[in-house]
Amino acid sequence: MTNPPEANVELQQTAKRNLWMHFTRMSAYADSDVPVIVRGSGPYVFDNHGRRYLDGLSGLFVSQVGHGRTEIADAARRQASELAYFPLWSYAHPQAIELAERLAELAPGDLNRVFFTTSGSEAVESAWKLAKQYFKLTGQPERYKVLSRDIAYHGTSMGALAITGLADIKYPFEPLPPGGVRVPNTNFYRAPDFVADDVTDFGRWAADEIERAILREGPESVAAVFLEPVQNSGGCFPPPPGYFARVREICDTYGVLLVSDEVICAFGRLGYYFGSARYGYQPDIITFAKGVTSGYSPLGGMLVRDALMEPFSRGTATFLHGITFAGHPVSAAVALANLDIFEKEDLLGNVRAHEASFRATLEKLYDLPIVGDIRGDGYFYGIEMVKDKDTRQTFTEEESERLLRGFLSTALFDAGLVCRADDRGDPVIQLAPPLICGQEHFDEIEHILREVLTEAWERI
Ligand SMILES: Cc1ncc(COP(=O)(O)O)c(C=O)c1O
Repeated sequence: MTNPPEANVELQQTAKRNLWMHFTRMSAYADSDVPVIVRGSGPYVFDNHGRRYLDGLSGLFVSQVGHGRTEIADAARRQASELAYFPLWSYAHPQAIELAERLAELAPGDLNRVFFTTSGSEAVESAWKLAKQYFKLTGQPERYKVLSRDIAYHGTSMGALAITGLADIKYPFEPLPPGGVRVPNTNFYRAPDFVADDVTDFGRWAADEIERAILREGPESVAAVFLEPVQNSGGCFPPPPGYFARVREICDTYGVLLVSDEVICAFGRLGYYFGSARYGYQPDIITFAKGVTSGYSPLGGMLVRDALMEPFSRGTATFLHGITFAGHPVSAAVALANLDIFEKEDLLGNVRAHEASFRATLEKLYDLPIVGDIRGDGYFYGIEMVKDKDTRQTFTEEESERLLRGFLSTALFDAGLVCRADDRGDPVIQLAPPLICGQEHFDEIEHILREVLTEAWERI
């Protein structure tokens, strides 16, 4: 579908007059068009001019099964006709029950209890609230602090923002709820010198920093550690070997809950239903959202160990927390249809079969002077750009501004690739294509990145 030119002009005017886009400098569109995406099919999306883009970021790490799946749309229509809405406050509906059972079966260990939300931020917020109330109920009321990693993004609601490790997006909203404590992330490319030669030593150090932070804060005050299996923000930091085993050990020693924030890393992004399963660790809570519905309707939630639910299953105890649209019947039906596609098409198998060739295709870009590091796992990669490959020198603020905001984001999109150029840590390009992708799509990504990054280098 291509809009007639007059319709596009009107869309632009209306967008600029009435729409407020998220995390967006609205001034950037004073003299240029707001990109308007109207349709999707498989791993591609199309704009209102009929131009096609490879969705190299699955929207926002969401569209696992790709776009235009009518079987999911049909499931949504059927559910909206049958029961469009009823709350999970004191009532249940079959779709939430069935989805909870299915997620419990897929989740590692005894994570059998599902608390639904509508988003990832709400899932993270809910996990912190659960940890706080759980410890109050079980006689450890001083435990409220939460540890998380430098530059990690865990959402935008006030609690989730307090857990987030990005100073710039927190500052305007200070003071935030107290208790957020930062520990180092696992960016081996930027490891401190004394552990820069050995990734296992680096991982041990980074995990031990969690123990040091717990001891510094006072173990009796720490409720939980929030970690992504692969940290997104900063450009995809996979865990070093042994990292999560050591973190689990530390959490057990000090009675601290391990929350695996899998808002991005669950549902096939790393070739497994849950990222924790890929790296072989057992969380106490998993937070999820995004890929659970592949974006056909919003849904999030947390999967919780039986033991954490237990104190809430006696007498008058109640988890005093709820969200009107959480576990919405249409979203739950959509999630079930989405998971059916995962099974029918063996999407996890597809990621596992092709992840090595995805990596190998991206690694061809190492011949470009601007490409410093390529890191990730599964269908989830970050490419760190540097000014000097040998010294790993990064760009100045001004260069970063000119390179990322002034050129790369638009140039990549204009060349037909949706991905993310981000400088919340060091400047990176992030890729997370739909799980249906294969070699032809990897080649397309590599080809566009090569052209645009070559031009970016010439412009520095
Ligand atoms: C790891 C992680 N946690 C939480 C969130 C917040 O999710 P949402 O935007 O659905 O609130 C995100 C969003 O990208 C995320 O990546």
